[in-house]
Amino acid sequence: MGDFVLAIDQGTTSTRAIVFDGDYRVRGMGQQEFRQHFPRSGWVEHDPEDIWRTTVETLRFALADAALAISDIAAIGITNQRETTLIWDRETGRPIHNAIVWQDRRTADLCNRLKAEGAEKTVTEKTGLLLDPYFSGTKIAWILDHVEGARARAEQGALAFGTVDSFLLWRLTGGAVHATDATNASRTLLYNIAAGAWDDELLDLLRVPRALLPDVRDSAADFGLTDPAVVGAAVPIAGIAGDQHAATLGQACFEPGMMKSTYGTGCFALLNTGAEMVPSRNRLLTTIAYQLDGKPTYALEGSIFVAGAAIQWLRDGLHLIERADQSGPLAEQADPHQNVYLVPAFTGLGAPWWDADARAALFGLTRATGPAELVRAALESVCYQTCDLLDAMKRDWTGGSETVLRVDGGMVASDWTMQRLADLLDAPVDRPLVLETTALGAAWLAARQRGIWPDKDGFARDWRRDTRFKPGMKADERATKLAGWHDAVRRTLTH
Ligand code: G3P
Repeated sequence: MGDFVLAIDQGTTSTRAIVFDGDYRVRGMGQQEFRQHFPRSGWVEHDPEDIWRTTVETLRFALADAALAISDIAAIGITNQRETTLIWDRETGRPIHNAIVWQDRRTADLCNRLKAEGAEKTVTEKTGLLLDPYFSGTKIAWILDHVEGARARAEQGALAFGTVDSFLLWRLTGGAVHATDATNASRTLLYNIAAGAWDDELLDLLRVPRALLPDVRDSAADFGLTDPAVVGAAVPIAGIAGDQHAATLGQACFEPGMMKSTYGTGCFALLNTGAEMVPSRNRLLTTIAYQLDGKPTYALEGSIFVAGAAIQWLRDGLHLIERADQSGPLAEQADPHQNVYLVPAFTGLGAPWWDADARAALFGLTRATGPAELVRAALESVCYQTCDLLDAMKRDWTGGSETVLRVDGGMVASDWTMQRLADLLDAPVDRPLVLETTALGAAWLAARQRGIWPDKDGFARDWRRDTRFKPGMKADERATKLAGWHDAVRRTLTH
């Protein structure tokens, strides 16, 4: 067995597997996209067998790419799209319904009803979350209420619930282990993040039988061995974390006050608040950043649903660009005197506005507005939304003075966007050398657990920056631009 570590990164639109060597270098990678199912407006599902098949195949591709065998792998870490909900039969291992994806809005009415009954205060105090369809709890209730016989079978203990990590763990261990980690549990609406346990009052509120639930462990823990019949050898699975939490680790944001922002389809910013569980007064989420040695480290999280998706819209919807990497150079050519704003509420607005009914809008168009101004407006919308998140974080948490933002995800390849981000935030933006931060975080958890890689301090020392973008915009220009953005958001909100 070598000191190679394999990370499985099961995301919303694709599954990736990456082999890292002892110097955190990528030695091999496999990636596969899979089908998205939209059975009705606002519904998003995945076929669990697609999730499983792409996991096994990308694992094999990554090993082949690294010219390694599974027996060369010392440990496996799993990271995953969060909140996405699966329920399967403990006997057969077969899911009883498609996975309901985090973006799915089918439980909006249930959330509104619970809010009208005054349940949100308790839910937020215990879970750090809001009553929004985004999280797993109401999705579990929906499956139990809509699949014939499911509720009775769940109560008898015949079914198992899991987020994607649990489902993969169950399958990889040949059905031997039904567990999750604290970060994934913290996104279900059922887990009390202060007490570190599933919560009976929340289970009653959402009518979820306890017999469905996985065992909750540290993010770095012994999660069992892979079944040789499934992957060809018994390899320890030793780390699990939700993808945004894994990225926080991969960015080595171990100290209170450190923060990262990941720009994928959406954007998720996490601010480490240490052992302190900070309640938000500004509609951010309180979440478990990671849990090591039985101790949770908390974070404030801002989630916005459209970041890279706005660039996809420019490319696939408007055909203004052919490739995402053309967006920065085109934005650079935009007329600086035009104030065009895009509020990208294509699927509503997330933090700090939480308006599920808002829809996207463009403001400030003139006859002179062309593709360059629209592209700039789309890229800037991602920056403005990040400003709103960080502003809310600063108001919620006064625990530290450091305001460097560590960034990762596909969009950070654009120098223009990262410079604009630094300018509008009025804070430095650091882009790391290893951009595979999510997978690296999962690999680190597993490698730390097995004693192969250094602990927090050593890993943080090894973290390397590629570029620091320093803010350079004049204060009055920044203030004018932000005021224009907030005016555009106000005109888009439905409440
Ligand atoms: O909360 C949802 C988030 O975990 C999804 O991340 O990168 O799969 O879109 P991603």
